[in-house]
Amino acid sequence: MSFISAQNLSLGYDRTVVVENLNFVVEKGNYLCIVGENGSGKTTLMRTMLGLQSPIDGQILFGDGLKKNEIGYLPQQTVVQRDFPASVYEIVLSGCQSHMGLRPFYTEKEKALARKNMERMDIADLKNRCYRELSGGQQQRVLLARALCATTKVLLLDEPVSGLDPKVTYEMYELIKELNDSDVTIIMVSHDITAAVKYASHILHVGKTLYFGTKDEYISSNVGKFFMNMEGGEPA
Ligand SMILES: Nc1ncnc2c1ncn2[C@@H]1O[C@H](COP(=O)(O)OP(=O)(O)OP(=O)(O)O)[C@@H](O)[C@H]1O
Ligand SMILES: [Mg+2]
Repeated sequence: MSFISAQNLSLGYDRTVVVENLNFVVEKGNYLCIVGENGSGKTTLMRTMLGLQSPIDGQILFGDGLKKNEIGYLPQQTVVQRDFPASVYEIVLSGCQSHMGLRPFYTEKEKALARKNMERMDIADLKNRCYRELSGGQQQRVLLARALCATTKVLLLDEPVSGLDPKVTYEMYELIKELNDSDVTIIMVSHDITAAVKYASHILHVGKTLYFGTKDEYISSNVGKFFMNMEGGEPA
């Protein structure tokens, strides 16, 4: 059975349907890029995969040894979150909360994991700095280290490069590629079709047109050709 499979999934809020009849699978080690216009339901899909909201119809199944609480999440950043008044270490450590249950303190093992992931993301020297004083690229590394404290199986990344300059964007993509090369399954929302096509193994396109397939299938599909020509823009 696949790591994650979505079957006839319809998503939305109250009775408003945002996406209908979504079908896709994610296998262990895949790098899935989710692309689509603003408001097409990408973040809603991520939240549904995390169990933060229920589908209107259909289901998401986990298999191949993956459990619901073994998914790390880097949320789409809002202005308020960028201003969060906590230290880098506190934020990274809070990634361990998904396996703490009701225990109100962190164990030595969890603290060691937080330190290891800060080193892995090259932010160990920022440990005691306040998160809101960091640059956008540094903040995204902090959030990646946090997500890695939750799991090394699957990471859901919602626009991890938005607002970053080209150099830091490139570094971030390379960092995510390294994680994928070390067997972390990646599911990433992005507006950057060029990067999606460069890095991903599979593409899921949501919006008026739905598409799921391998990167190569997407490149040669009509929908892929159309959106690659638009360079990630919206259809006329
Ligand atoms: N909490 C909510 N309650 C009601 N409607 C919502 C809620 N959150 C999002 N929506 C609506 O659902 C639709 C999909 O939103 P979503 O945030 O999933 O889009 P998105 O594809 O992530 O967009 P973007 O590229 O701008 O991040 C939008 O029309 C949005 O207005
Ligand atoms: Mg979104």
